Amino acid sequence: MTFSSIEEILGLFHRWGTDHYDEDITQLDHALQCAAHARAADAPPSLIAAALLHDIGHLLDLEAGGTVEHPISSHHEDVGAASLTGLFPTSVTAPIALHVRAKRYLTAVEPAYLSGLSTGSLASLERQGGPLDPAQVATFESNPGANDACALRRWDDLGKVEGLVVDPLDSYVDVLRGLCAASGWPTSADGAGPLR
Ligand SMILES: [Fe+2]
Repeated sequence: MTFSSIEEILGLFHRWGTDHYDEDITQLDHALQCAAHARAADAPPSLIAAALLHDIGHLLDLEAGGTVEHPISSHHEDVGAASLTGLFPTSVTAPIALHVRAKRYLTAVEPAYLSGLSTGSLASLERQGGPLDPAQVATFESNPGANDACALRRWDDLGKVEGLVVDPLDSYVDVLRGLCAASGWPTSADGAGPLR
């Protein structure tokens, strides 16, 4: 599935955002908390959007009939990044595609990072292949998107606080539209989004 408008993304959040994430919060809570961390860090708009949308592959999986416990795809990062390529630049999609690998990287190079992972993240780490080996570490570090992916990953790990009140989804619509327009998509006269 490839998104062709911001409205489709918002619709997906409205349909599936209240579903449970694999921690004690909802999918939408997690996305908003990650984006709030990016905002608080004065991250560029593309990285704020990446933080907000990094797990959209999970929502697409739920819509396709999967569950958190039994997803259809075991690579939500790839599904999510691919779904956004028509609307957003690689500065948004690359950190999303790399955020699982960034976790595997950080667990390989930072012992303290590994010990700080939540129970859910530790369980998924094993399914995702565990810490990168030295050759994989070197390859990851050579990727120009590695730093952004690691920043996103750390916000991802922080964005699991039950009951935390943060900026709502609507507060990110202008950020998403701005990135969409910068990607070359024409926006309609009333600002309602891309024409197609
Ligand atoms: Fe996440």
